[in-house]
Amino acid sequence: MAVDAREFKRGMRQLASAVCVVTTSVDGVRNGLTATAVMSLTADPPQVGVAVNKSASAFAMLSTSGRFAVNVLSRAQQPIAEVFSGAGGVKGAARFETGDARWSTGVTGAPLLDAASVSLDCSTARQVDLGTHVLFVGLVEDVRACDERAPLLFLDGGWGGLIRD
Ligand SMILES: Cc1cc2nc3c(=O)[nH]c(=O)nc-3n(C[C@H](O)[C@H](O)[C@H](O)COP(=O)(O)O)c2cc1C
Repeated sequence: MAVDAREFKRGMRQLASAVCVVTTSVDGVRNGLTATAVMSLTADPPQVGVAVNKSASAFAMLSTSGRFAVNVLSRAQQPIAEVFSGAGGVKGAARFETGDARWSTGVTGAPLLDAASVSLDCSTARQVDLGTHVLFVGLVEDVRACDERAPLLFLDGGWGGLIRD
């Protein structure tokens, strides 16, 4: 029996996730979105996956640029997560002007967020059509890690942090 989509979404709200901002650029024009459908795939070769909705404003650029970065956010970077999720109606390159966020350009040309917990700079290895979404498989060309920072998490529709045992 098919599972109702609402039931599925209600269940997935209980999956606590690290929050990432996935960025790309084409001819110097930057775009990006907040994403939690991010996973480590393989270590050899180093690959990550990101599922992106075809309706996202950054989708077209992601599918043509051949590069993207996965910026894993720290707890202090929640305002960046909000803007890149479309809150406030900020679109496209203007999202990169949020607060005092600083960005640099990775070896692939993708935008990297300074002070992210870690930024994975990827060339796009494969795009897998999943219907509403495309799974972008990235070959990690560079890893830029900061010192350990408290992670930003998302659970049951809300932002939070991690309390360690
Ligand atoms: C916590 C959180 C996680 C999200 N994860 C994803 C994701 O993994 N994939 C995706 O396509 N959209 C995800 N979104 C939605 C996109 O961030 C959002 O649709 C997009 O940035 C806004 O659309 P726009 O760029 O068209 O304005 C997430 C949103 C939030 C708030």
